Amino acid sequence: MVEWTDDERNAISTLWSNLDVGEIGPQALSRLLVVFPWTQRYFPTFGDLSTPAAIAANPKVAQHGRTVMGGLETAVKNLDNIKNAYAKLSIMHSEKLHVDPDNFRVLAECISVVVAAKFGPSVFTPGFQEAWQKFLAVVVSALGRQYH
Ligand code: HEM
Repeated sequence: MVEWTDDERNAISTLWSNLDVGEIGPQALSRLLVVFPWTQRYFPTFGDLSTPAAIAANPKVAQHGRTVMGGLETAVKNLDNIKNAYAKLSIMHSEKLHVDPDNFRVLAECISVVVAAKFGPSVFTPGFQEAWQKFLAVVVSALGRQYH
């Protein structure tokens, strides 16, 4: 089981409560689709993903970005049991969506970049980054858990 220090718990809940999921989610998913273009193949119904501007303006990308952040909220609320909280989501990404689990890590990278850019160095200090990276690493591991 993952152990969290009080500082880590405080950092994660402080970051989360100050984060606008309607802003961060769409930005992070947009970055994923631009920076790691092979991820576009999982979203064939999303319409125009041909340029960074088209991706940023695509309402389906924005909507799904919010959905992903909803998934992260589940993890924030279940810090001591992320693995179980993500069991169904992991099965879905593996067996139904066939998402290569390497992509969880690169999405986590995009989320961190957007969060760091949003908060800036005075809030997103090395201590906060440590807690945040650990949180996302646990999320990535839990999502990859049901892959065989
Ligand atoms: C759907 C969360 C990473 C592809 C979903 C859903 C959630 C979610 C909550 C909706 C589940 C439902 O409808 O019951 C997450 C989280 C991720 C993550 C928390 C990592 C932090 C990824 C990645 C990809 C991906 C990296 C592909 C590159 C998809 C697809 C769907 C989906 C294709 C279905 C979209 C649709 O047709 O509506 N994800 N996801 N996910 N996810 Fe993920």
